[in-house]
Parts: sequence; C-alpha cells; structure tokens
Amino acid sequence: MAEFTLRLRRYDPESGEGPFWEEHTIDLEPHRSVLEGILQAKDRFDGSIGIRCSCRAAICGSCGVKINGQPDLACHTHLERAKRRSKDGIIEVEPMGNMPVIKDLIVDMEAVHWKKIRRVTPWLIAKQPVPEREYIVPRETMVDVTQSMACIQCGACVSDCLSMEVDPEFIGPAALAKAYRFVGDPRDAQHRERLEDLAEDPHGIYDCTHCFQCISACPKGVAPMNQIMRLRRRAGNDFHIEDRNNGERHERAFVSLIKRNGLLDEAELLPRSYGGDSALAKFKPSAAAELASSLPVIARALLRRKLTPAAVLKPHKLPRADRDQIKRIYDEVDGPDERVEFNIYISGKDEDR
Ligand code: SF4
Ligand code: SF4
Ligand code: FES
Repeated sequence: MAEFTLRLRRYDPESGEGPFWEEHTIDLEPHRSVLEGILQAKDRFDGSIGIRCSCRAAICGSCGVKINGQPDLACHTHLERAKRRSKDGIIEVEPMGNMPVIKDLIVDMEAVHWKKIRRVTPWLIAKQPVPEREYIVPRETMVDVTQSMACIQCGACVSDCLSMEVDPEFIGPAALAKAYRFVGDPRDAQHRERLEDLAEDPHGIYDCTHCFQCISACPKGVAPMNQIMRLRRRAGNDFHIEDRNNGERHERAFVSLIKRNGLLDEAELLPRSYGGDSALAKFKPSAAAELASSLPVIARALLRRKLTPAAVLKPHKLPRADRDQIKRIYDEVDGPDERVEFNIYISGKDEDR
C-alpha cells in the first residue's frame, strides 16, 4: 500500500458557486488506477464526488477525465505513473475540455460528442442489392478501417482538439474518425456523398489544423488526425472534390510549393489556394479578391517581420541537393499506382504511404 493525494476539481453548476479544488489522501497499491483512487475518496470522504465509470477496463469509454492536464481514461492510468507525471506529487484530476461540465468530473458528452457523431451518419448504408449470403470484403480493406473501429467513444480527442476550441462547430476528431470507418468500407454505398458533405461543410475535414493533439490524447491508438487525412486523400485524389472552402486547392498549392522549393512560400500560398496552382494565380479575380480582404493580415505580418518584401519577391528555397532529396520522397509516395493506407496499428508497417 502507498499513500497518494488526489486534487479533484469540483463544480456543481446548479449550486450557483464557482469551481474549486479539493484534496483527498487515499491508500492503494501503486499499480491501482486513478479511478480506483477517486472511488475510494468518494467512498471514504465525500459521496457527492461526481465521476462516471462502468467497465473499469478501458473498454466502455465512460471515465474520460484530464489527469495532470492531459486527457486519459481514469481506469487506465496507474496511480504511480500519474504521481510521477504530476508537477508537485499531487495527482490533479479535472473534467475533460471542450464539453460543458454536468458535475465535478462528468461532462455533457451528449451536447458535443454524440451530437457530432450523429452528424456523420454513423452507420453503414448498404450497397444494393444486398447479397443473399454475406458480403465478401478484401482483408486489406478491413485492416485499413480497423484502426477507426477501435474507438471507444471516450471523448479524450475532443477534449484536446485545438480547432474545436476555436471553432466549436468543427465536426471534430472522433466523429471524423467514425466517418472514415464507413468511407473506407467497400460495403458502403455513399462514399462520394459522405465525402462531398464533409468537404463542403466549413466545419468539416479541412477545418483540422494537423496539431496532432488528438493522436497523443487517444488511449486506443485510433489516431483520428490520420483518419481525417485519409478522408482528405479520398475526397481530393480519388473523387476530385473541389470544395467551396478552398481546402483541396489550399492543400494542393501547399504540396506543390514544398515540392518545388523544399520550403513553404507563404506569399504564393494564398493566391494559389484561391486562384489555382500556378504562378499566374495572383492575377485571377478570385485570388485578387482574397488578397485584398487579407491586406490587414499581410500588413501585420510585414510589420512584425514575419514576412519581408524581399521574401515576397524572391522566395526562399533549399539548396539544390536538398530539393532533390525532397523530390525523391515525393516520387516514393506518388510512385505506386495504388495508394496503400496501411498503418502501424495493425500491419506493423510504418505510417501511410
Ligand atoms: S489534429 Fe485536427 S482533429 Fe486532431 S486535435 Fe488537432 S485540429 Fe483537432
Ligand atoms: S478516437 Fe480515441 S480519444 Fe477519440 S473518442 Fe475514440 S477512443 Fe476516445
Ligand atoms: S470505466 Fe470503462 S473505460 Fe474506464
């Protein structure tokens, strides 16, 4: 047995009082979970501590909380490890972010998480006619979607999504990973419709800023950001969907500028994203309008020297030998006729090719 101190964030919106921290010292074996520690504090000191849990085995997804500021499953975090990672030896537990608190450590998953999951039509729309016996699905295809199928709907990725903090309407990592589960499934009849819907939505697949937070937060290795990138590749490369948000054009311009210079040329990125991927893009009316509306941002960047007139006129480039290496990476990725979406989660191979 060892002693551990828990610092719990308490809040009851119905009380009219603000949130406050409360400390309880519990004793349990170091390998026991933070959830068991909370339940002991609840049992011994204060039965009103609000915590949601069920399976206690990292399967049901109910016990998502923040431990020392990081989202995780309380039943899946050893007390000893949590103490080691705390800033002052006290294990701090608070409710997940980006969702309203119902009470103490319990957040309203319905108001955010489940609403977004429903938004992506989270069921298979079967191709017709339905076979008399079972569908035969190639093994590789199921390997590809198994990673998104591993989601236990705990909300940890939603809690830490930086885009969702800025745009609460963003469909978000968990729901988009769920969307890929069906877009990657050959039995589904509406791949194009699903992708058009998610690409055209201003809060859809192009609202993700690749911050990687959802990848670090997920306790099940779902890597939601990777599923979002898969959705984008399907939408752009396979279905050639040019969305009204300019997401696909922006991505194409980004990729071709890096391929050409080895570095991003910010001054070219905006006109190419709006006027097409060419040096003449800045003279197109659509790009000119966007450039005009961005003048205050451009002026601020010039004032803060994030952008210099010299960099605008003469973009920075890597030396020729380095650019050749980058080109080799592009050739390697673009080379095979068929894109392979295997991942380390199941196949043991490295990330996407
Ligand atoms: S990578 Fe995208 S979806 Fe994931 S947390 Fe960051 S912004 Fe959100
Ligand atoms: S993707 Fe991971 S973090 Fe997000 S809800 Fe599913 S299991 Fe939880
Ligand atoms: S209690 Fe089920 S995942 Fe933690």
